[in-house]
This record gives sequence, C-alpha cells and structure tokens, in this order.
Amino acid sequence: MRMKHRVVLVTGASRGIGAATAKLLASEGAAVAVNYFQSAEAAEKVVASIRTAGGTAVAARADVRDQAQVHAMVAEVENALGPIDTLVSNASIGFPVVPFIEYPWEAFEAKLTGELRAAFFCCRAVVPGMAARKKGCIVAISSGLSRVPGPGFCAHSAAKSGLDGFAKSLALELGPLGIRVNVVAPGLTLTDATAWQPQEAKEAAAKRTPLRRNGQPEDVAAAVLALASDDARFITGAYLPVSGGVQML
Ligand SMILES: NC(=O)c1ccc[n+]([C@@H]2O[C@H](COP(=O)([O-])OP(=O)(O)OC[C@H]3O[C@@H](n4cnc5c(N)ncnc54)[C@H](OP(=O)(O)O)[C@@H]3O)[C@@H](O)[C@H]2O)c1
Repeated sequence: MRMKHRVVLVTGASRGIGAATAKLLASEGAAVAVNYFQSAEAAEKVVASIRTAGGTAVAARADVRDQAQVHAMVAEVENALGPIDTLVSNASIGFPVVPFIEYPWEAFEAKLTGELRAAFFCCRAVVPGMAARKKGCIVAISSGLSRVPGPGFCAHSAAKSGLDGFAKSLALELGPLGIRVNVVAPGLTLTDATAWQPQEAKEAAAKRTPLRRNGQPEDVAAAVLALASDDARFITGAYLPVSGGVQML
C-alpha cells in the first residue's frame, strides 16, 4: 500500500496509460480522481473497477486545456476526496502526424499550446495547496519523442520537449517547498493513441526494442507509481524513459 492516505488526480484517465495509472495507484491505497474529457462512460468504468477492487475513486470531467474547467474540477475533487497531494499530468493532446513541409501552423500551434496549457493549468491549480502543506508530487507524462525525433512528429516532439523543460523548471522552483516534479517518457505503447499504426510497424518496433516487445499502459503506470511513491522521496527533476531500452539507441 505505497500510496495509502494519498489523494491523486490523474488527467486523461478514462483510457490508456491514464486509466492503468489510476487503477494501479488506487490498488496501492490512493484515493483517485479519474479525469476525463469526452469519454464519460469509460471514466465511470475505471471508477467502477477501482471501487469493485475495494478502492476509492471519483470521475471528474474537465478539458484540461481550459483553466476555469481545471480549477472547478480541482475544487470538486478536493471536496470529494480531500487535498490533492499527487498530480499525474497525462492527458493526451491530439495532433496530426504530417511531414514538417506540409504541417499546418494551426495544428502545430494547437498541439504546443494544448500540451502546455494542460500542464500549466493543472499544476497551477494544485501547487498552492501542496506548497501550503509542504508536500506534493507531480509526474508529467512526456514521450521518448521529446528527445529522439520521428518523421511526422515535429509538433509532438516540440510540445513534449517544452513539457520536459517546464517540469525541470518546476522541480527547481518547487523543491524547496517540498514538491517533487518528475517526467515519465513512454516509448511506443499500445493504446487508442497508437491504434492507427499498422501491425507491421508495431512488430518492427518490437524487433528494434532491446526488451523485444511493445509497451503496455501498465508498464508506464508502474513507472509512475515508482516516482509518485515515497520510495522516490529524494528524486526530483528526473526523466525516466519507459521504452524497453529504445531510448539508448
Ligand atoms: N501511447 C503511446 O505510444 C505514447 C507514447 C509516448 C507518450 N504518450 C503520452 O502518454 C499520455 C497518454 O496517452 P495514451 O496513449 O494513454 O492516450 P489515449 O489512450 O488516447 O487516451 C487519451 C486520454 O487523454 C484524455 N484527453 C484527451 N484530451 C483531453 C483533454 N483536453 N482534457 C482532458 N483529458 C483529455 C482522453 O479523455 P477522453 O477520452 O475522456 O476525452 C483519454 O483519457 C499522453 O500524454 C501521450 O502523449 C503515449
């Protein structure tokens, strides 16, 4: 029960990595807020599965790119579960996979601002409470593509690099306030976000991966738990790849 007495907000937890993270942290004793945007039914299923397993969870709707919605959600969650001490900033901000030469600026800008609005607004909403209590933990979900480029992914790489820099800045500024900030960087992980990729591409990626398979949402969730728990009490500003070794190639 490494997360006992903890209150966690996981953004984008109706599906994929966020859902796996919400379930794992709840199984370790945390009370979990399952944020969603459009998939209310899926979020309720995550909440139901946590409750069935004996855990505590609530669903919380907000578009995390909208500051007013984020603040309203945080107030609602804290009313239901108590003060949030852990934020997992995970929501997936969509983007087209298009070569740079054809990339529409509007789509590039929407990805950049969406990614950073989500992280900025969620952190701004929870950090004052964490600072007042002199204890808090933030895990931002970046991507291996923040450090290694991929064709068609210029917006995603730029946005996630920005997220990495933002997280490091917060680790520096918030460390003296007792708040740790770390980044988890998944490689290719089998979720709805990667369902469009052809099976052959996934198999080829598994062959290139030192651990010889694609990532699963639970692999990323396990890394989030490691950084969120007190086992990582002296770790801040870290960038933890979860990619079966691909990041070193
Ligand atoms: N899958 C990969 O290969 C991979 C690799 C590297 C990094 N990542 C990162 O991992 C994170 C999770 O990705 P995933 O693959 O698990 O995605 P996913 O399965 O497509 O799920 C996306 C989640 O984000 C939520 N979301 C989207 N826009 C939102 C918004 N504006 N406000 C609140 N929630 C929103 C969705 O909620 P609704 O359905 O309720 O709208 C859903 O719960 C993302 O940050 C992604 O960039 C993924």
